[in-house]
Amino acid sequence: MKIRVLTLFPAMFDALGESIMGRAIKKGVIDFKAVDIRAYSKDKHGKCDDTPYGGGAGMVMTPQPIYDCINAIDPDHEYLRIFTSPVGDRLCDGMARELAQTDKLMILCGHYEGVDRRVIDLCIDREISIGDYVLSGGELAAMCIVDAAARFVDGVLGKSESHETESFSDGLLEYPQYTRPPEFMGLKVPEVLQSGDHKKVDKYRRECSERLTKERRADLWEKLQNEKKLGDKDSGGGV
Ligand code: ADE
Repeated sequence: MKIRVLTLFPAMFDALGESIMGRAIKKGVIDFKAVDIRAYSKDKHGKCDDTPYGGGAGMVMTPQPIYDCINAIDPDHEYLRIFTSPVGDRLCDGMARELAQTDKLMILCGHYEGVDRRVIDLCIDREISIGDYVLSGGELAAMCIVDAAARFVDGVLGKSESHETESFSDGLLEYPQYTRPPEFMGLKVPEVLQSGDHKKVDKYRRECSERLTKERRADLWEKLQNEKKLGDKDSGGGV
């Protein structure tokens, strides 16, 4: 998967060189580059922002450097072009899986008070938010999108890592995990997890997941119950 992030702060993406993403980039499974928008500015001082029309606080990113940067990287519009924005569609597990199917992903990061709307309307396919709060820039949001999507790209997770048992994979929150020692600060690892009985372990984990989801995410639980009802209806309907 080829990923290009367009930003005024490319050094922020050095963090992706660590851990699972870093390994995937080194292996070549993910071809990642953070591109400096400023390099495309036609202003002699490399200026990329200006005051907003209509007044108001802060600065707005000007369209020219962004437009030229996007078209230099993607002249034939082969990339899925994303803009990180609090007004976008909310990132979720399903969206991350969908994005992982894309061969070429471009993410434009906004900064300051925002980006001139015209360049979004001209160039961007999709706006994505990572939650109902405002970040000081789109870079952290872009990192979340890249990380969440890349996990579903074949070859990114190692053999011992899996997204199939993680939270949201089956509509439930993930059960709690434990490792050695068997007792820590007086707290014991649940007996069943040390029993070696895989059936019992699976049952215990499923119950934990269900309880956790019911307690913490009534919305997810309700969705799952509705899907179950629909599934029951569908399987009974053909008789
Ligand atoms: N930029 C600023 N806040 C954001 C958010 N919540 N999601 C995506 N991009 C953003």
